[in-house]
Amino acid sequence: MSKILVTGGTGYIGSHTVVELLNAGHEAVIIDNLSNSEAAVLDGIEQITGKRPPFYQEDVRNRTAVQGIFTDHPDISAVIHFAAFKAVGESVMKPLAYYGNNLDSTINLLECMLAANVPFFVFSSSCTVYGQPDELPVSESAPIKQAESPYGNTKQMCEDILRNVAAATELQAISLRYFNPVGAHESALIGELPRGVPNNLMPFITQTAIGKREKLTVFGDDYNTPDGSGVRDYIHVVDLAKAHVKACERLIAGDNKKSIEFFNLGTGRGYSVLEVIRAFERVNGVKLNYVIGPRRAGDIEKVYADTSLSNNELGWKAELGLDEMVASAWKWEQRLGS
Ligand code: NAD
Ligand code: UD1
Repeated sequence: MSKILVTGGTGYIGSHTVVELLNAGHEAVIIDNLSNSEAAVLDGIEQITGKRPPFYQEDVRNRTAVQGIFTDHPDISAVIHFAAFKAVGESVMKPLAYYGNNLDSTINLLECMLAANVPFFVFSSSCTVYGQPDELPVSESAPIKQAESPYGNTKQMCEDILRNVAAATELQAISLRYFNPVGAHESALIGELPRGVPNNLMPFITQTAIGKREKLTVFGDDYNTPDGSGVRDYIHVVDLAKAHVKACERLIAGDNKKSIEFFNLGTGRGYSVLEVIRAFERVNGVKLNYVIGPRRAGDIEKVYADTSLSNNELGWKAELGLDEMVASAWKWEQRLGS
């Protein structure tokens, strides 16, 4: 049993990860400034697990606050760093806010944890670092492409920071490159909290289905894919969360092969936008109002993960399929709407 500090632990992926850490017998300590989440998420975590982790409503950039957590909890073994701004479009409009938050929080956290002799660090990265890969499925050794947005660039820069710090210090890091996280906990007690008009496909689908949006636009049906719509590797957020538990356990057990490792987190299976829509309609018995529109600027055609490294090394494999993803996303939307 280990105690893990989770930054951004009341957020979408963080809250599901806290649940999986607690389910696996670990303890969690959460720091989140609630810039994109609510304290009520702690109630959901408690209802699911029967435990309420210590919570610090603080900014990860605040050195005194982070140092204070390591002082309060000298038995913290590892850190999972979710806290970041994540809206791609907003990052284009507010690059300094994104570089400031995503880089400064990472640097401050690394300094504090190394000072506290906590060397194990799990980082939230993204498949966006690959851009449109030359080969599919894309493996971790694929070249990193020029970032499409300041947000994507912060992920690449943080990976570089981790590489440099791991080479120079005791840091042992795992960077997890998420494909497209969707869905919610089966209890519908935690999920993704929408902010404004969603950019991502799944929340747009569920909000259209419940009547918050008039219609969904499919961004292009002339891609070089089986039905012409874009293909992505959607991954259930609960599967994603479980991979973080494995990553912490690997570091703490000393099973990592290098001081920094990178793992793709996807299912290895790509689905098109139209396939997701059809699955949503079939599984939930709901008709979706959608139209075909033009391509969205900056979108890639298709991407899906080579998961062999995470399967073999992390001992992790996504277990939930598209049906569970669309069912849980719908259940969560209905709960939000009620
Ligand atoms: P989220 O916004 O739901 O969660 C992030 C949490 O961090 C929020 O609760 C927010 O309040 C908090 N936060 C932000 N800046 C903070 C700061 N300076 N100090 C303290 N708390 C702060 O986002 P999410 O979807 O759970 O994403 C978690 C991580 O995964 C992020 O780093 C994100 O970039 C990355 N990621 C997400 C996706 C995705 O599609 N959701 C894909 C790839 C990578
Ligand atoms: C987005 C992010 C990317 C991040 C990834 C995973 C952008 C530009 N990119 O990409 O940085 O790594 O999520 O979180 O935001 N679609 C529609 N109609 C919609 C919304 C989406 O057809 O209303 C299509 C898109 O064209 C795409 C697919 O659905 O083919 C998935 O879109 P989205 O959920 O936004 O994810 P990504 O484009 O993969």
